[in-house]
Amino acid sequence: MTTLGTPLSPHATKVMLLGSGELGKEVLIALQRLGVETIAVDRYDNAPGQQVAHHARTITMSDPAQLKALIEAERPHLVVPEIEAIATPMLEELEAAGTVRVIPTARAARLTMDREGIRVLAAETLGLPTSPYKFCNSLEELQAAIDAGIGYPCIVKPVMSSSGKGQSKIDGPADVKKAWDYAMAGGRVSHGRVIVEGFIDFDYEITQLTVRSVGADGQIATSFCDPIGHVQISGDYVESWQPHPMHPAALEKSRQIAKAVTDNLGQGFDGKPSGLGLFGVELFVKGQDVWFSEVSPRPHDTGLVTLCTQHQSEFELHARAILGLPVDTRLRNPGASAVIYGGVDAVGIVFDGVEEALRVPDTDLRLFGKPESFTKRRMGVALARAADVETARGNAKLAARKVKPRKV
Ligand SMILES: Nc1ncnc2c1ncn2[C@@H]1O[C@H](COP(=O)(O)OP(=O)(O)OP(=O)(O)O)[C@@H](O)[C@H]1O
Ligand SMILES: [Mg+2]
Repeated sequence: MTTLGTPLSPHATKVMLLGSGELGKEVLIALQRLGVETIAVDRYDNAPGQQVAHHARTITMSDPAQLKALIEAERPHLVVPEIEAIATPMLEELEAAGTVRVIPTARAARLTMDREGIRVLAAETLGLPTSPYKFCNSLEELQAAIDAGIGYPCIVKPVMSSSGKGQSKIDGPADVKKAWDYAMAGGRVSHGRVIVEGFIDFDYEITQLTVRSVGADGQIATSFCDPIGHVQISGDYVESWQPHPMHPAALEKSRQIAKAVTDNLGQGFDGKPSGLGLFGVELFVKGQDVWFSEVSPRPHDTGLVTLCTQHQSEFELHARAILGLPVDTRLRNPGASAVIYGGVDAVGIVFDGVEEALRVPDTDLRLFGKPESFTKRRMGVALARAADVETARGNAKLAARKVKPRKV
């Protein structure tokens, strides 16, 4: 049974978000609506989520000492990682000591923070279909892995990176050194390790949002949202839509894979089912074949579209699930999202064209409020509802184009 408190009182239900970007901001808003006391943590001041939380804290989350000190000082009921670059072994320690509950589990946060943990779990422990892969520590090892079977084309990624950073495709021997150097420059922690993956020539890719929540019988139940289709450019999402039509067999396989991965990641340090929350399972599909790519144990950027398509967005689903409340994953109407990039490098930019954008029928906008813009930084998203996905995609892109960020 869940009992919720009054924020800013001795009986508050306190939730700490580790990472307070645009996805965390929406989770925080959903928690605020339920009267949860929120603590938004980020590495810089005035992060989007910090602007809507009761408390804002700025620390280096990859530093175990800083993380421990903050959690012990604030004593939240739940710690909700929103980003990957966190001192996850410290979270495991604090969870095992009973200091705090980590969403979905500290183990899931650790396994998904680098590509190696999750890939080895999915492919080797769970035996799920993935691209062929090899981990390499040097240019020589990379070349050897390609020659020994990965072949061309292939994709190289730093083991620690997200949003396509340091990731590139290799079409032939001439590209290998360039890809290695690019990965070394783009990794989050430059410890010189990469994954090389055989290129999957998929028809399309989807995000299967999957929720672990407490059912009416008190047991953990798994529910699925409609599949989200998306387009990635240089490993970063630019457009998404829901529902993505799928062959029933491919949908069935996708959900089996999503269930297997989330069941495992939902196991706590003692092996018992515990982890609650929403996961974004990334899958490649060709005909009736499905490959697991990766998973976020938290809301997924392509799932921003659910702000205009579902009865409960992925953020509301996450907030409800982690609090032990019932969830409803049903689609309300088709829709699409289109990313608005900064287009400029500047602090405190302004947005022209917002009214023109919102004149596009059945659209909405989220401007994240990031204090600093970069050319390729995601600063907002346009959302569109429609009777069909094609119309929604057209309108979302149209609305996104009409928003013009500029330097003052
Ligand atoms: N083995 C592969 N074969 C074909 N395409 C791939 C492969 N690996 C990655 N991609 C493409 O690159 C995109 C980004 O890859 P991936 O999800 O591994 O990187 P990421 O940096 O974690 O991205 P994000 O953080 O945005 O999810 C995928 O969504 C897919 O479009
Ligand atoms: Mg991805």
